Amino acid sequence: MDSRELFSQSSRLFPGGVNSPVRYYEPYPVFMKKGEGSTIYDVDEKPYTDFCLAFGPLILGHSHPEIVSAVRSAVGNATSLGAPTENEIRLGSMITAAVPSVKKMRFTNSGTEATMHALRLARGFTGRNIILKMEGGFHGSHDYALIKSGSGTLTFGNPSSQGIPPEVSRTVVVGQYNNPGSIEEIFRKYGKDIAAVITEPIMGNAGVIKPEKDFLEFLREITISHDSLLILDEVITGFRFGFRGYQDIAGVSPDLTTMGKIIGGGFPIGLFGGRDDIMDKISPVGPVYESGTFSGNYVTMAAGIAALKQLKNMDYQGLEAKSEMFEKALGENLQHDEKFAVSRFGSMFQIFLGIDHPGSYDEVIKADSRKFMKMFHLLLKKGVYMAPGQFETNFISFAHSKEDLEISALKIAEAMRETEKN
Ligand SMILES: Cc1ncc(COP(=O)(O)O)c(C=O)c1O
Repeated sequence: MDSRELFSQSSRLFPGGVNSPVRYYEPYPVFMKKGEGSTIYDVDEKPYTDFCLAFGPLILGHSHPEIVSAVRSAVGNATSLGAPTENEIRLGSMITAAVPSVKKMRFTNSGTEATMHALRLARGFTGRNIILKMEGGFHGSHDYALIKSGSGTLTFGNPSSQGIPPEVSRTVVVGQYNNPGSIEEIFRKYGKDIAAVITEPIMGNAGVIKPEKDFLEFLREITISHDSLLILDEVITGFRFGFRGYQDIAGVSPDLTTMGKIIGGGFPIGLFGGRDDIMDKISPVGPVYESGTFSGNYVTMAAGIAALKQLKNMDYQGLEAKSEMFEKALGENLQHDEKFAVSRFGSMFQIFLGIDHPGSYDEVIKADSRKFMKMFHLLLKKGVYMAPGQFETNFISFAHSKEDLEISALKIAEAMRETEKN
């Protein structure tokens, strides 16, 4: 069956035919079947060089043999044990050694769960109600995160969402990433009631927006001076630029950190963790409740351990060099009159059409989504699979070869020219 036929079946079962809205695009999404290294294959066996990489977890590429082997062997013992296991200690120890601000942690099954619990914990610990998040910042799809968020909520024109009670919205205030003035103003008004500031260190759900110098340090200082907590949402950035969190690169130590994606080796995972005194407020030792049938799942832990073992020895500088070469190749090929910008941070990148300075949410929101999707479809034809949305991030993995990147840069340039033509 081809994608069109599969879509007609899936749309009878799932809203929009998908189990996450970011996977949908018109007229229907290509159904995928298999992944290997830097390549994803659709149901007709057509290969694509994959820059979506399952929205971020696959920094080692698809089906890394060490992860596959670890998972096979774990499944031989158990699928889920619902009791503490040594695997949790192994993965937890690797994480705390690599991200020193995470003294204690809890594993969850998704980044959404991780930020939801982290926000409840911040409120429980401080006894305050207000959360400050950034406009366009995405922290998953629970009520407290879906206030002026990014990713699919921008693509689909729902900056928030229906179904969120006004009582909830009133406890979340929205500041501007890279704009200390906007944050200061909010602290002047609500400072003593702010439980926490949560931000992605590098915005990755409004395309890629890089942090301006000292913005994260500024957030650290203002939260300390108001006895509020700083939560860095490293669901995308954790272990992406080195065997550590971005916080260590930026030199900013948050009170709490959330992670996901990469640390599960391609299996469902999330994590929230941080200071001992804060984490000890979590049940059963403390009064803030949090639980999950599948949290710390035996197989997921095995996949995560295998992924981090690999990553410990990977050449992150080489990944940066490859990504820089790709950006250069794009720059050389993409010479034409219309406005565009390539925004890259390490192995994260996005191409913005219709704008030339993606420095803030206000700027990127003016990008031309319609044109972007035209380019996306042209690229599908050419065998390049980008994340299907102007406000998503694309990723380069260790599995991408120099040749993958050179050829893709040419195809992207071609697709852009064709996009502008009609
Ligand atoms: C920064 C950030 N936080 C949280 C999430 C939510 O993670 P999940 O999709 O695993 O629930 C995402 C998802 O893309 C994310 O990018």
